Amino acid sequence: MSPLELFWIDADDPRMAEVHALRHEALFAPFGIPRHDGWDDAGEDRRHVIALCGGRVVGYACLLLDAEGDGHVRQVSVFPELQRSGVGRALMSEVDAEAARLGLSLLWLNARITAEPFYHRLGYSTVSDRFPSGRTGMPHVRMEKHPGR
Ligand SMILES: CC(C)(COP(=O)(O)OP(=O)(O)OC[C@H]1O[C@@H](n2cnc3c(N)ncnc32)[C@H](O)[C@@H]1OP(=O)(O)O)[C@@H](O)C(=O)NCCC(=O)NCCS
Repeated sequence: MSPLELFWIDADDPRMAEVHALRHEALFAPFGIPRHDGWDDAGEDRRHVIALCGGRVVGYACLLLDAEGDGHVRQVSVFPELQRSGVGRALMSEVDAEAARLGLSLLWLNARITAEPFYHRLGYSTVSDRFPSGRTGMPHVRMEKHPGR
């Protein structure tokens, strides 16, 4: 695998087109859900981090600053053929570092239960019962972490 590079990009960066494809492939295609690119990516309250490998976008996460001033992590996606090779960990480590730079006191996310062990490994704690969420109907749990710890 080529070295991984991480970049924070704006919503109008041309590489967001690759992000659209990645989000679909990683998050929705496995459920047979038709592609839909109508995400609200613009706005001062959201930041986009990509992982590049050999010049190609292979990982993505969105950090949204919520109304409480906490960091809501969304749409964490790694291309299927590169999953379990450290891309997700690298992305989430960068999200954590950015949250610390921004002085956020809390990071939270709604995790698919299939990804719950991944976030546990990165220091997130499960703080809710399971609930159905999103387009897939898959059970999710809310998880939280204090940045930098
Ligand atoms: C979940 C996801 C983001 C994790 O990214 P990744 O690049 O595959 O994970 P990494 O290789 O960085 O894994 C880091 C650690 O978590 C573990 N891990 C990763 N995914 C896991 C899973 N689903 N179940 C259990 N452990 C997992 C890895 O084995 C590794 O363990 P280690 O500490 O012993 O080395 C990625 O697999 C993915 O995009 N999945 C499909 C979409 C999805 O479910 N997104 C999350 C929505 S909430």
